[in-house]
Amino acid sequence: MSSEKRDPEQYVDLGHSDVENHLKTQVALYEKRLKEGGSANKVAAFFATNLFGFAYHYLKSRFGPKAAYQFYPSNGDDGIYPLHTYSETVTMALVSDWATDTPESDLIGHLIRDHDPDYTLHLGDIYFVGTPEEVATNFTDPDASWHFGKHGSLALSGNHEMYSNGTAYFKHLLPAMKIRKGSQIATQQAGFFCLENEHWRIIGLDTGYNSTNRPLLEVLFKPDCNLRKEQVQWLTETVKLGNPDDKRGIIFLSHHPYFSSFRDDHPVVGRQLKTIFGAAERPVLWFWGHEHRLSFYNQYGFPDGIKAWGRCVGHGGMPVETNPPDQGHLGQLVFYDQRVRERIRRRDVGFNGFALLSINGPAIDINYIDQTNKTVIAERWTVDPTGTLSSEIIKVHPDVTKY
Ligand SMILES: [Fe+2]
Repeated sequence: MSSEKRDPEQYVDLGHSDVENHLKTQVALYEKRLKEGGSANKVAAFFATNLFGFAYHYLKSRFGPKAAYQFYPSNGDDGIYPLHTYSETVTMALVSDWATDTPESDLIGHLIRDHDPDYTLHLGDIYFVGTPEEVATNFTDPDASWHFGKHGSLALSGNHEMYSNGTAYFKHLLPAMKIRKGSQIATQQAGFFCLENEHWRIIGLDTGYNSTNRPLLEVLFKPDCNLRKEQVQWLTETVKLGNPDDKRGIIFLSHHPYFSSFRDDHPVVGRQLKTIFGAAERPVLWFWGHEHRLSFYNQYGFPDGIKAWGRCVGHGGMPVETNPPDQGHLGQLVFYDQRVRERIRRRDVGFNGFALLSINGPAIDINYIDQTNKTVIAERWTVDPTGTLSSEIIKVHPDVTKY
């Protein structure tokens, strides 16, 4: 259990390579031990946790085999869960890149608790490399600030979970994730899932497992985050995405962005989904994280991929980036919360937050709530009997940047 929170400063200069993140994990462990121990063991602690610990952990977890992929059916579960609520409205919090064990992640976790949603979903990235200790500190320790929804919690994998080969994600986090399935309580069995009712299907996609490759190979051949064949088979045969008679609104959740004005696109996932949909294809709403910001995109699709409206909610717990967009898709970028909250290490840092969905019949009201508990943007999505989605913006904070 950790009583010492991590300092957000540790995250400001976080690099995107797995080596840097392994080192950061060891430095954080070292600093924690320093606070707990006397000065006599500082040097020993440094070598034990920082250098040897890093080398040992990196070699062991980064060069070892990936955790075995888990998929449905598993323990009699098919990964499809009917949405439940005790009221008229199903409420669901989406938060991504949240698990940093900082005062900010505690704040967001407590705000989500105060809204007391039916479901709480993490869209991936446990920092720095998703070790068992990092899973415990953020999610499962008695004082961890993850809030479990009334009817359940589920977690997607990001790239950081896979920096330690996914072992803690599959062996520690998934067993802690419980979800109501009718009168039963199921344990999350795989890194993908479908929550549904008569109007909507909210489908979590695993883009994390194939976001890393062998340590040296991934420099030469950048992983494309493609959906593994077991997941494709589940979407095809169990979820039956290609059923033309199913006119429910589709919402995808994933860690990695389908497209972005700031960092890498992941078009392969959209191409795979187009093939699975076939003639049943229709534009979807797609939430993702990975980038530490709140941004909204108009509908876009790569020529050979599905069309989607994008919502980046990667502002859960990391220092929020406020840099201007520079990677294309500027025609699609609609809103970007570039408000500056404070400066850390001479870097502007924005507002953390999460999305709260209120699902009521064919309509979903979505409030994007920041760490001050203010709604930054509110929008309403509606699905019609043909499965077509439409939306209207209800509210935008006057200081949010409009494109
Ligand atoms: Fe990520």
